[in-house]
Amino acid sequence: MEERIKTGIPGLDEITNGGFIKNQLILISGTSGAGKTIMSTQYIYAGLTQFKENGVYLSFEEQPESIKANVATFGWDLDTPQNDGRFNFIKYDPYHVEDVFDIISNSVRDIKAKRVVIDSISALGLYLRDPVELRRMIFNLSMILRKLDCTTIIVSEMLPGENKGISRYGVEEFVADSVVVLYYERFQSAFTRSIQIWKSRGSDHSLKLHPYKITSEGIKVYPDEEAFAGM
Ligand SMILES: Nc1ncnc2c1ncn2[C@@H]1O[C@H](COP(=O)(O)OP(=O)(O)OP(=O)(O)O)[C@@H](O)[C@H]1O
Ligand SMILES: [Mg+2]
Repeated sequence: MEERIKTGIPGLDEITNGGFIKNQLILISGTSGAGKTIMSTQYIYAGLTQFKENGVYLSFEEQPESIKANVATFGWDLDTPQNDGRFNFIKYDPYHVEDVFDIISNSVRDIKAKRVVIDSISALGLYLRDPVELRRMIFNLSMILRKLDCTTIIVSEMLPGENKGISRYGVEEFVADSVVVLYYERFQSAFTRSIQIWKSRGSDHSLKLHPYKITSEGIKVYPDEEAFAGM
């Protein structure tokens, strides 16, 4: 049996059959405003508070102060673990894409982090020449982070609507070991949120589209309910 990392996100570990698989690279893809940053931060926060696992969050676009202020509305304090040396929050403009590897490796080693988030891989792609290069870059990242004994989330943007694909450049989902898709789309006169485990290498998982909510305590997935497809 493969070793599992409990995400700590209510309901998510049920639809993945027990959590993320240790040392995998997991792609979280979703439309704008779907809750990708909240879900990724929740994974890090749960690691710090429930599982004694240190974390690294690498943000290419949104300022750490902005993310911290947003998740403070859920009661999550990231300053304390950061001051205690259990959490590294890094903001980096990837003008020098090659430096990303060193930045991640050093900050992981520095605090022996087990959970890593890269938000977003779509932003990193803007600095690369083509999707082939992005694919190679994600593959190398996955190898390095596996060696460092990390279980990593990479975030990808996705355009709304059918036939738009599930990632920004159309290669991200092939390199990732597992893929979680967050849909935030109009259904009749309102927006609805639904989540799907698109793939999970080496494991069975729910094939259904499940509803999720962003509540005052963060993201909550409903494993016993089926969502309406918004399309
Ligand atoms: N305290 C809260 N209670 C309920 N919903 C919230 C709360 N805070 C944020 N949200 C919802 O979460 C959304 C933002 O989530 P998040 O920043 O994780 O999205 P994202 O997928 O990362 O978007 P982007 O692609 O723009 O980075 C908001 O648009 C809002 O709908
Ligand atoms: Mg975001």
